[in-house]
Amino acid sequence: MTITKAVIPVAGLGTRFLPVTKTMPKEMLPVVDKPAIEYVVEEAANAGLDDVLLVTGRSKRAVEDYFDVAPELERALKNKGDDERLASVREPVDLATLHFVRQGRPRGLGHAVLCGRQHVGDQHFAVLLGDDLIDERDQILPVMLAVAERTGGSVIALLEVPRDQIGLYGCAAVSAADPALAAGLEMTGEPLPQADVVRIDALVEKPAPEDAPSNLAIIGRYVLSPAVFDVLEHTEPGRGNEIQLTDALAELAQDPSQPGHGVYGVVFRGRRYDTGDKLDYLKAVVQLAAERDDLGPDFRDWLHGFVTGLK
Ligand code: G1P
Repeated sequence: MTITKAVIPVAGLGTRFLPVTKTMPKEMLPVVDKPAIEYVVEEAANAGLDDVLLVTGRSKRAVEDYFDVAPELERALKNKGDDERLASVREPVDLATLHFVRQGRPRGLGHAVLCGRQHVGDQHFAVLLGDDLIDERDQILPVMLAVAERTGGSVIALLEVPRDQIGLYGCAAVSAADPALAAGLEMTGEPLPQADVVRIDALVEKPAPEDAPSNLAIIGRYVLSPAVFDVLEHTEPGRGNEIQLTDALAELAQDPSQPGHGVYGVVFRGRRYDTGDKLDYLKAVVQLAAERDDLGPDFRDWLHGFVTGLK
């Protein structure tokens, strides 16, 4: 099995980021000098997922245009001999083969994924959520793809969070997976400790901390078996009156003996930035800018003085 397709839902209203998202898709917010969505498409492409379906909605034209050629701009840059900027505007166009489907009514993440059914067909695929940026040095998708290929099931990315934050996420009850499953898998160049691949026993969307079965939160990377589509077709609206992907995966996890039904988790211990929240977005921009070869040295000098002055 080789997994080549990724589905990226981008139809959300971006209410956490108002007012700027009144007219600008949240996916286009700049993280240093590239929109957040470009990092996500890059991550997919780097993992060999070069067929990317963006599930869009109204007022997301800017996202579509960003991944398209811009002839006038390219001509102007070419005439000026500005090869570096020319390459930067061409880069998103050549990252992957992009497809678009409109979600119409925003009925939740599960519904957005279901909108990809026709495009994906009867094969495993990845889902990447745009609010989560995974540092390119700490790739998790290759490990998840390998677990899906070995098991034929679905795989979710998990992150340990403080108990009081678990209500912001889907939450997983887990047990030990067959140790052979993790053998030979690597993350960030290090062999993966066996405990990092787990079996999912149950899932609950945004539980109250006192009801949460663990402090393992679902983060926005999934590798899904096509069996999820049949389940999503009958998944009733859940939390927030939305069709929840978590609920569909919980149903798959209930009956792992059926083909394509087992669900596994990979616990992520690398660097992840949440760009959907204002404070975390600011942290992401500062961290990524400070680490850039071009901007980093000057920015770090300035930042040091700025922070010293704050105290
Ligand atoms: C969605 C999922 C949730 C998951 C989260 C990760 O929630 O429903 O299970 O933990 O993404 O970012 P959202 O953040 O869209 O409310």
